[in-house]
Amino acid sequence: MLVPLHKILAKAHKENYAVGAFNINNMEICQAVVGAAVAEKSPVILQTSEGALKYAGIDYLKALATVAAMNKVPVTLHVDHGRDLNLIRSCIKAGWTGIMYDGSHLPLDENIKNTKKVVQWAHKKGIGVEGELGTIGGAEEQIIARKIIYTDPDAAAEFVEKTGVDALAIAIGTSHGAYKFEGSGRLDIHLLKTIKDKLKMPIVLHGASGVPASLVTMAARFGAELGKPEGVPDDQIALAVKNGVNKINTDTDLRLAFDAAVRKVIKERPEEFDPRHILGPARDLMQHIVQHRMKLFGSSGKA
Ligand code: G3H
Ligand code: 13P
Ligand code: ZN
Repeated sequence: MLVPLHKILAKAHKENYAVGAFNINNMEICQAVVGAAVAEKSPVILQTSEGALKYAGIDYLKALATVAAMNKVPVTLHVDHGRDLNLIRSCIKAGWTGIMYDGSHLPLDENIKNTKKVVQWAHKKGIGVEGELGTIGGAEEQIIARKIIYTDPDAAAEFVEKTGVDALAIAIGTSHGAYKFEGSGRLDIHLLKTIKDKLKMPIVLHGASGVPASLVTMAARFGAELGKPEGVPDDQIALAVKNGVNKINTDTDLRLAFDAAVRKVIKERPEEFDPRHILGPARDLMQHIVQHRMKLFGSSGKA
């Protein structure tokens, strides 16, 4: 079933676990994520960035989520880092059940103004909204590279009060992409705890991929040149969940698994050219990674 963002997160907030939000861009990624949710009996958030909406198209992504929702696990179809208000309106109209409005690049008053507008549109349709305050580091296709600005707890309280968002993405040291830390890879758990105690609402962690060494090694073995990627260690994710994070975004780990598995087939079986034989192992490996994360987030068995 397709459920609204605030509903899927309310249970997680109450029972102290996190729902994984995985970026989908094509059928195999969607099948891997949903296959994991079914196997783990876990709720799941399928999220589509503006880049994904451009790449796959709103109708294909909606169709994928509709099929996903036929399973017996709660599924939320969510816009990730929405900035284009017209695109957000189209997704609301098309049946998305969660929206992230990302105004974190704007001055606070403009971020509040736009987020509030999105909340009004969404709540009219029974859809939940995630806002962002502070800036998460790193660069993605549609997101300009920037330095991390940690979320200020007082500003967060003001932001939530003025906008009426259902969930808040905060910056506590993570970055998007595969190169998150130069040092020890620690999150500011104290800041997370302060914000959670103050807001008492679902908190979202972006840039949370683990960048598992096994995937990096596998990709490199079959020709990838990735330099020195670094993710958020599993123990830091567990601490974040324990201290109040209820939605955890993961995209990079899916990309790494996809890349490593596709490279392996092509390198080991150069005679292979059936797309099903090339993409099938990638789908399996992504599902394996997602299942591991659902266990780590504590969402397994919560469907
Ligand atoms: O946080 C961003 C996600 O990884 C999506 O990236 O904009 O390249 O689709 P994208
Ligand atoms: P990663 O790049 O760490 O997977 O983060 C994804 C994300 O935050 C999507 O919004
Ligand atoms: Zn993000």
